[in-house]
Amino acid sequence: MTAVITGASSGIGSAFAEHLASEQRDLVLVARRRDRLDQLAARLRAEHGVKVDVIAADLSEPGIWDRIGDELDELGVEVDLLVNNAGFGVHDDVVDSAAAALAQQVQVNCAAVVGLTTRLLPTMVRNGRGAVVNIGSTASFQPVPHMAVYGASKAFVLSFTEALAVELEGTGVRALAVCPGATETEFFDVAGESAKTGRARTAANLVAHAMRALEAGKISTVHGFDNAFGGLVLPRLLPRKAMARLAGRLTGRPSRTAPTPAA
Ligand SMILES: NC(=O)c1ccc[n+]([C@@H]2O[C@H](COP(=O)([O-])OP(=O)(O)OC[C@H]3O[C@@H](n4cnc5c(N)ncnc54)[C@H](OP(=O)(O)O)[C@@H]3O)[C@@H](O)[C@H]2O)c1
Repeated sequence: MTAVITGASSGIGSAFAEHLASEQRDLVLVARRRDRLDQLAARLRAEHGVKVDVIAADLSEPGIWDRIGDELDELGVEVDLLVNNAGFGVHDDVVDSAAAALAQQVQVNCAAVVGLTTRLLPTMVRNGRGAVVNIGSTASFQPVPHMAVYGASKAFVLSFTEALAVELEGTGVRALAVCPGATETEFFDVAGESAKTGRARTAANLVAHAMRALEAGKISTVHGFDNAFGGLVLPRLLPRKAMARLAGRLTGRPSRTAPTPAA
């Protein structure tokens, strides 16, 4: 039985790979940077004696889940754990963004999650065992001005996963949405350091938390007491507009290039 991890070339995805290999799980690692995946795969094989395959794929390509599904079939692996972890956030106001860049976030953070889940789920259900772990965020719980599409994409992940978990009741297959707060990874290389809110935790600690939540049969989990307060308690106390403004203050307005005056 094999775990597929997307976004395994760095950060939380790499930490999932480390954790699962140490538990003697065979792995398939997915991301765009094949060199990074190959290095990690070689190390995990040497250290843990597990089988590790690599699929280099750009999850922003429409329909990429079918190519990945076909490659998994060719590898002859039977997947019993899918970790939809790949994702990114762009710190910019909608008005200053290119439509293609925003659509790419929706494609990677939402469409690929749905596509891979839908492609791999029937085998798990037929086998009567397995799990889908989708990585949301504390951004899942309220609108996030200045990262509007990222926040909406993570709200999608949470809603999709919790609904899926209930659909799967009685099948032996579980679904879990994991909602990290700030975590020490390369995420902020893309989103920018100003998008970091609160104390950053380690990816290894997050993965251990996620695996405990999966074991406990939860359908979603927030990493860290402070993040749980911000994600689960505050939105029940404050109106949506106040929550949105608070999130917007925390994310901080991106530096905007002043418009050039007309000649
Ligand atoms: N770090 C945080 O503070 C934090 C907080 C909440 C939620 N999260 C979520 O955690 C997940 C993992 O992020 P991270 O923090 O570990 O960041 P990271 O270190 O930047 O890792 C992101 C991973 O996603 C992959 N990825 C990005 N775009 C891709 C694409 N088009 N196709 C295939 N793979 C792609 C990257 O691989 P390649 O570049 O090699 O393709 C990389 O492996 C994301 O969903 C993120 O939204 C992170």
